[in-house]
Amino acid sequence: MISKDLQKALIEQLNKEYHSAYIYLGMSAYCSKEGFNGAANWFLIQYQEEVSHGMKMFKYLEDQDVAIELPEIKAVKVEYKSLLDVFKKSLAHEQSMTKNLNNLSDLAMKDKDHATYSLLQWYVTEQVEEEATVGEIIDHIKLVGDNGYGLYTIDKELAGRSFVDPTA
Ligand code: FEO
Repeated sequence: MISKDLQKALIEQLNKEYHSAYIYLGMSAYCSKEGFNGAANWFLIQYQEEVSHGMKMFKYLEDQDVAIELPEIKAVKVEYKSLLDVFKKSLAHEQSMTKNLNNLSDLAMKDKDHATYSLLQWYVTEQVEEEATVGEIIDHIKLVGDNGYGLYTIDKELAGRSFVDPTA
């Protein structure tokens, strides 16, 4: 049985995963509007990944007989300053998610809730990859600066991303 405090925190995390999906949908819309169709595709896949993270948490809560609550998902931005800005905001967002997941892991450890702790370790590991991938894209964008051809090349690379369900 998951403690009441941990149940509440996991429901909040479930909401944060869907909020993340929504944030990435907003980022995709921005990139599409600016003509960065590859980056728009990249963020759309990021959106799908976050939905899959949400589904994994949802399924776990159901399996553990937690009363599901689906609170409102906060509105998100659809305007950013530049391609660099949108990826920087994405990294900052993932870093805040890592913090949440570490705090949740601490709570599960305190409760000696091994099943929830094990689930959370999956998310913590996933965060390492997410942060590294976004960090690499930021480095590439910084490298080309305002060079149009450079940005075009990066955008073309981002177009090649396809969805692979991380929870499968
Ligand atoms: Fe589900 Fe990108 O955190």
